[in-house]
Amino acid sequence: MTDAAPVLRAATEADLDAIMALEESSFTSDAWSRDSMQREIVSPFCHYLVAVRADGGLAGYAGLLCPEGSSDADIQTIAVDPADRGHGLGRALMTELMAEAARRRARQIFLEVRADNPVAHGLYRSLGFDDIAVRPNYYQPDGVDAVVMRAELGRPAGRTSA
Ligand SMILES: CC(C)(COP(=O)(O)OP(=O)(O)OC[C@H]1O[C@@H](n2cnc3c(N)ncnc32)[C@H](O)[C@@H]1OP(=O)(O)O)[C@@H](O)C(=O)NCCC(=O)NCCS
Repeated sequence: MTDAAPVLRAATEADLDAIMALEESSFTSDAWSRDSMQREIVSPFCHYLVAVRADGGLAGYAGLLCPEGSSDADIQTIAVDPADRGHGLGRALMTELMAEAARRRARQIFLEVRADNPVAHGLYRSLGFDDIAVRPNYYQPDGVDAVVMRAELGRPAGRTSA
């Protein structure tokens, strides 16, 4: 066993099996299909990261949609293995995706979060995202609302001291 923090790197198609295993265990009723995930990972319009443990296991992944030249970016997905939660990995993945969106010159970044997911909602708020809309019954088959969130880019993402 090691206490070394997982390392973040760009995802490749070789990570697809591990990503899908975590996707399906994290999003039991609304997981993406393998085909959708594969298309996103290889798309030049996207930027997917994996967090890899020292033993090679997948600790987490997250994905950004941000075509070069677009002023808008979207956080597509994020999940951290339950064994690795609560140690800052979700924040690290989000911070890196927001930095990548800023590098691609996006001005604002959006995401959707289930209204019954206070952990993720709290993470996003702490990163500067604000609630801007609610999409009723967006998540099916559960009938759960989506909260649409937005953050401005252009300054380094993360906590402010003020
Ligand atoms: C949401 C998720 C990615 C967070 O990953 P994580 O590595 O545990 O998050 P972090 O350790 O970086 O914590 C970041 C913030 O999340 C919030 N948070 C984390 N664990 C929490 C808990 N148990 N209760 C309340 N808030 C919590 C806090 O705001 C925390 O910031 P803080 O540590 O400064 O207080 C993870 O819980 C997960 O994979 N959940 C299942 C999939 C999912 O819901 N994805 C989001 C879809 S929109």
